[in-house]
Amino acid sequence: MAATGELSFEDDIKPLFTQRDQEAMLIMFDLWDQEDVREHADDILKTLENGRMPCYGPWPEDQIDRFRRWKDAGMPE
Ligand code: HEM
Repeated sequence: MAATGELSFEDDIKPLFTQRDQEAMLIMFDLWDQEDVREHADDILKTLENGRMPCYGPWPEDQIDRFRRWKDAGMPE
């Protein structure tokens, strides 16, 4: 996390997405590309919250919460 306490895509969000996640979802968007993730953030958060994605098992709540806080903070780089 950045010194300011602000969440950043590169340091805090991108590492949440595994290579398997990234490769699987390239059919729709690139989870390692911040522009793509910003563009689809609402839908991504919904699938994380309802547990439909990732397909091999839901994220722990702290990871979902981190994504939510990053999104609410305006999705900083
Ligand atoms: C807008 C949000 C998303 C939509 C609409 C979506 C949709 C889909 C669809 C249609 C599939 C293929 C069918 C299936 O296996 O169920 C799939 C597969 C998958 N998605 Fe997503 N997905 C989304 C977000 C995510 C996110 C955020 C992750 C990871 C955190 C993720 C990880 C995966 C994985 C791992 C697979 C299966 C690939 C495999 O077989 O290993 N997806 N997704």
